[in-house]
Amino acid sequence: VPTAGFIGWRGMVGSVLMQRMQDEGDFDLINPVFFSTSNAGGAAPSFAEGAGPLQDAYDVETLAKLPIIVTAQGGDYTAEVYPKLRDAGWDGLWIDAASTLRMEQDSIIVLDPVNRDVIDAGLARGVKNFVGGNCTVSCMLMGLGGLFRNGLVEWGTSMTYQAASGGGARHMRELLNQFGSLNSVVADKLADPSSAILEIDRAVLAQQRNPEMDASRFGVPLAGSVIPWIDADLGNGQSKEEWKAGAETNKILGLDADGRIPFDGLCVRIGAMRSHSQALTLKLTEDLSVAEIERIIDADNEWATVVPNTKEATMAALTPVAVSGTLDIPVGRIRKLEMGPKYISAFTIGDQLLWGAAEPLRRMLKIATG
Ligand code: HSE
Repeated sequence: VPTAGFIGWRGMVGSVLMQRMQDEGDFDLINPVFFSTSNAGGAAPSFAEGAGPLQDAYDVETLAKLPIIVTAQGGDYTAEVYPKLRDAGWDGLWIDAASTLRMEQDSIIVLDPVNRDVIDAGLARGVKNFVGGNCTVSCMLMGLGGLFRNGLVEWGTSMTYQAASGGGARHMRELLNQFGSLNSVVADKLADPSSAILEIDRAVLAQQRNPEMDASRFGVPLAGSVIPWIDADLGNGQSKEEWKAGAETNKILGLDADGRIPFDGLCVRIGAMRSHSQALTLKLTEDLSVAEIERIIDADNEWATVVPNTKEATMAALTPVAVSGTLDIPVGRIRKLEMGPKYISAFTIGDQLLWGAAEPLRRMLKIATG
């Protein structure tokens, strides 16, 4: 039974990963060693019977004894510990949720239902670093991978509706506190059906602009608003999240500069909890019928499903509320646009913590130990 070390298993992404591994019986197939950045010597988690005490996540010597390390501890940890491990001569597999090493030449972005060929070729030539992709990119490719993989996309643009969880656990709490605070300033008036809506609106806006309302995580209020900027300002008018969309999509697909598919758009934070949505405009390389497009998307992998482009089906199945907590990747609103027969729209949603973060890592660990 292969041994694998786990770091950051207690955080939000790590907890989802641990839950998925339990659900799928993965711990029957590996011998886990759990690490901690703050509680070395503490007890191993109860779900992993027989695992020894927690090891020190900064102890390079102990880490270097492991053939596989899986980390969801975050980018700062990777930046600090990973180079020390390699400098110490460690040549094990590094499976990481953080973006730190993602675009390195010697890293592969893992999303095996979409790029198993790229992963297998990487393993065969001795690649050691396997990194989870940006959540929005992974969810988009899980939904529309069929079109991309069949060379049917000439270019694409995505307008995203990204959930609070992408920022982290504290961002989710802040959003909910903001919703609560907005409700509380108008609760009396709301309870009275004859109160004036414009007065309620004024009070809500005043609270949103009240510097006392905590917006420290997102920087500005998100409840009842949107923030059309995610991640760093690259200084060229593009956010880092937007840059990732094009860079990672092509890297996951194994496309080099020659075969590159232009993919760009705007990334927007909205007040959803943990599922990222995105509206896509694609220019196809061929004039395919909508039925054929739907067939290709549906057939690509077992999680992508086409939602019929009707109001009823869309409202029932194509919302973050419908998707969160599941591995389903619904793709809907597929139709030809007025611009011409090769232009289509689509809308897709994925749970940012599952396919967007934990699931590709879990599956990579299985591939590596399988
Ligand atoms: N950068 C993403 C977001 C999360 O902020 O939604 C992780 O890929």
